[in-house]
Amino acid sequence: MKKSPFIYGSTVSFDSFTNRENESEKLYNNLTQGVNTTIISPRRWGKSSLVEKVLNDINQKEKNIKTISIDLFAISGEEEFLEVFAREIIKASSTKWEDWVKSGKELFKHLIPKINMGIDPTNDFSINFNWEELKKHKDEILNLSESIAKKKNIKFIISLDEFQNIANYSGFELLEKRMRANWQRHKNVTYCLYGSKKHMMTEIFNNPSKPFYRFGDIILLKKITTENWIKFIKKSFKNTDKNISDKNAALIPELMKNHSWYVQQFSHYVWQKSENIASKNEIINALNELIYANTPLYQKEVESISHTQLNLIKAIIHRETQFTSNTVMQKYKLGTPQNVSKNKKNLIKNDIIHEVEGIYELLDPAFELWFLKQFYNKDYLLKIK
Ligand SMILES: Nc1ncnc2c1ncn2[C@@H]1O[C@H](COP(=O)(O)OP(=O)(O)OP(=O)(O)O)[C@@H](O)[C@H]1O
Ligand SMILES: [Mg+2]
Repeated sequence: MKKSPFIYGSTVSFDSFTNRENESEKLYNNLTQGVNTTIISPRRWGKSSLVEKVLNDINQKEKNIKTISIDLFAISGEEEFLEVFAREIIKASSTKWEDWVKSGKELFKHLIPKINMGIDPTNDFSINFNWEELKKHKDEILNLSESIAKKKNIKFIISLDEFQNIANYSGFELLEKRMRANWQRHKNVTYCLYGSKKHMMTEIFNNPSKPFYRFGDIILLKKITTENWIKFIKKSFKNTDKNISDKNAALIPELMKNHSWYVQQFSHYVWQKSENIASKNEIINALNELIYANTPLYQKEVESISHTQLNLIKAIIHRETQFTSNTVMQKYKLGTPQNVSKNKKNLIKNDIIHEVEGIYELLDPAFELWFLKQFYNKDYLLKIK
């Protein structure tokens, strides 16, 4: 059996990666030329994939630059962050683990690292500090990359995924200040900080009273266009000896509103169901399967939303814009203008809705299809003509 050319659920950076030429070029140039860069987009549009692809390119082409990727998603506090940060920098600075131990011993002035090394050094190397000492001398860790880079005459690119998570650490504000104060002086280290909680990322990077204001370039990642998705889908079918017409291929991004993850998931189901040619039938079956597969998630989501928030979603789905006008408030039972404003904030915070050029929409295109069926008995299959 052939392998599906469509991938979702993990980052894509080689075969299943498409488009993003302009963003890749810009990010490549920024990072290799020392311009710190922040990338912001809603969930699952392709930030991590883009950064992974560009860092792979840099690793291939720029021998003097060492890249480091840390995902803050699973790092729950400042102490752990600083330890992982130090460990990854030390690991990236040399291919030999003997050097890591040496660096660990030589590089700190005040801090005394405890180094642990297992049988497999690549995976079992860790570095710990006394927390009280670490708190006092966190600058030593935050400057470690610059010190190593100078000493070894190399450059570092440090990418921190889900960067907004540091805002949940206790003592975050001080850490944020120290990061900015140290990092802006680095000549040999470039930072790529990105994340999906748009409101949090914007608060960190776009608020003039916050330390990271104007830290570098901000890329607001857009969706891949319908036209490009069609090309990608057609090519992927062709490469695996299957066929899909322009018209049928277009249905996939159109129904999924060009959402990267869902376009890949939908394409995968269509591909899997098509023996040779993807016809309307396969597309209908694939859409049913996609909605069916995601239904438990959507049900859970709806259960966690208050009644008036659900009503606000209904108004949004019906493309209303004047939520606080009397007609709209009454028609959808939105409560008071204060309720509307609070619910809007909550739905944004929980990544359920977002604003695009002044208009609110649901972030999840398939959730919207499911929602219309569930609450209005509107058959999403009718969209496939
Ligand atoms: N350039 C691309 N070409 C093709 N598919 C892509 C591309 N970028 C992303 N995708 C699809 O979208 C999915 C999500 O991508 P990715 O994990 O990079 O997004 P993200 O923005 O980092 O998401 P999250 O906010 O959840 O971390 C991938 O698994 C893949 O299916
Ligand atoms: Mg990601």
